[in-house]
Amino acid sequence: MTTIKGKRILLGLSGGIAAYKAAELTRLLKQAGAEVRVVMTAAACRFITPVTLQALSGKQVHSDLWDASVPSNMAHIELSRGCDAIVIAPASADFLAKLAQGLCDDLLSALCLARECPLLVAPAMNLQMWANPATQRNVKQLHADGVAILGPASGDQACGEVGMGRMLEAQELLEEIEAFFQPKLLAGKRVLITAGPTFEPIDTVRGITNTSSGKMGYAVARAARDAGATVTLVSGPTALAAPRGLERVDVSSAQEMYDAVMVRVAKADVFIGVAAVADYRPKKAMRHKLKKGTDEMTLELQPNPDILGTVAARRKAPFCVGFAAETENLEAFAEAKRRRKKVPLLAANLAQHAFGADDNQLILFDDQGRHELPRAPKIELARALVGHIARLLPKK
Ligand code: C5P
Repeated sequence: MTTIKGKRILLGLSGGIAAYKAAELTRLLKQAGAEVRVVMTAAACRFITPVTLQALSGKQVHSDLWDASVPSNMAHIELSRGCDAIVIAPASADFLAKLAQGLCDDLLSALCLARECPLLVAPAMNLQMWANPATQRNVKQLHADGVAILGPASGDQACGEVGMGRMLEAQELLEEIEAFFQPKLLAGKRVLITAGPTFEPIDTVRGITNTSSGKMGYAVARAARDAGATVTLVSGPTALAAPRGLERVDVSSAQEMYDAVMVRVAKADVFIGVAAVADYRPKKAMRHKLKKGTDEMTLELQPNPDILGTVAARRKAPFCVGFAAETENLEAFAEAKRRRKKVPLLAANLAQHAFGADDNQLILFDDQGRHELPRAPKIELARALVGHIARLLPKK
């Protein structure tokens, strides 16, 4: 179950080439279990036809303020009643200006003015239009009015220019909308997270690593950010894109991860060690590629610093959360690890279930005992973990 399952979303399209992304967004919202009703401005209908949106949403698309098919003939009021949110994607410069002024001369702007639910807008325009002081003034006003601004992003634009003003991608918008509906359980908290594997060089082209994909750590980072925390993600080498709106620090070896954590930990309220840190590293990394021979070769290893253990042992330690991946005796090993590392909370999983997969299953161990989180997508487990952390955090 995702957080927007069952939510009623009114998706509004104003005129912009990014309207094509709204088709994909409609599909993703529906796939996530939301009920989507689409309203388009006349200009939006020039970029993409209502037929496309009707087919994807499964509902009649409206664009006329005087739509006689709406029973009360008050489409501008009726269509948004009972909605959990209105999302405008794309929101053109013109539409933002209208919203900021409270103008309502077409169906979509009238719906926004008459709404009872939250309003989220995803700006989409040429970089100069975005940078124009008039647009910036309007965005500031909308922000002050409690409207959530999603994006925009920077990059290639349809006009051939490159810069700020591109609408977020459909998947990013879906994640922003999901984040909007999350309770802000960690508002004001600073959360430091390690994720991914580490890589311990043997020579210039080889090294020791493990099979961690980083998915669980990245999901925890996203869940903490969605819960309102300021998040720093110290990540070993992974193929994953960092969730938007957090600081990502890329590292490679365990020692680099240790150093990156230690310079940031004093400011953290919560530390979550999700990284699968290599326990050992080659004693001496060769500065050239080792040549193949026929003799046996011995690699001398030395232990890496224990990042979680060191953080937990600090005099003013943040609230520390450990992860444990075991292949057998999960419960006994995990609880023993929690006590040894002196952390108040430890999340344990079976390595063979977790590595690389999108789903996982966790057992949380704390002073009260064990709490089972049944098999679910990693982002859902991460949200449950964040909820558990919020309950255990000392109240100030
Ligand atoms: O002892 P083990 O490696 O199984 O402990 C796992 C937990 O400790 C994880 O939270 C992991 O991120 C953390 N850890 C660490 N530094 C290490 C080894 C593990 O922070 N060198």
